Amino acid sequence: MTRLPAPLVTEEEIAAKVADLAARIDRDYADAGTLVLIGVLKGSFVFLADLARRLTVPHRVEFIAVSSYGDRESEEHLGSVRLLMDVRHDIAGEHVLVVEDIVDTGHTIAYLQRLLGARGPASLRLCTLLHKPDRTEADVVIDYLGFAIPDVWVVGYGLDYAERYRTLPYIGELGPEDR
Ligand code: PRP
Repeated sequence: MTRLPAPLVTEEEIAAKVADLAARIDRDYADAGTLVLIGVLKGSFVFLADLARRLTVPHRVEFIAVSSYGDRESEEHLGSVRLLMDVRHDIAGEHVLVVEDIVDTGHTIAYLQRLLGARGPASLRLCTLLHKPDRTEADVVIDYLGFAIPDVWVVGYGLDYAERYRTLPYIGELGPEDR
């Protein structure tokens, strides 16, 4: 039987944080009209689903998919991101909130902020559940942050290791023996 990863952030801690983030977003966008949430596939799908269902401000949901060139862990290709799937609707003049599961090096979100920012949204902000500050190289402003975490391998609540563990209900730390 496979061992489950040790919890780094529990289901209860996640639920409380999601409620807290949604309340802040509700306050900040109270007079903004319809908010456009853009989930970055695949990792954000669980967080986005929980966050969106907590929001009371009018909102619509979009998805975007990107991929890093080559091996994320290698120095070669570092920082190269490409678009796999775009959002369905124009975001010009819209208030946009990008929803991420994790900011690691920051290259993905830096790319997305450039791409989406060039389309003339009324505002463009970032909400991420997790951030590894020790790993981040790109210049990234995080408007809504769940948890800053150490540089450990995390899985669950949308995050995977070779497509495993995505639907684990908590954030677990994957030890070297689990990979
Ligand atoms: C993860 C995560 C972010 C990105 C962050 O996606 O969902 O989008 O990496 O890393 P960075 O800050 O170093 O750019 P991943 O490429 O693992 O794809 P997935 O979401 O489909 O699992």
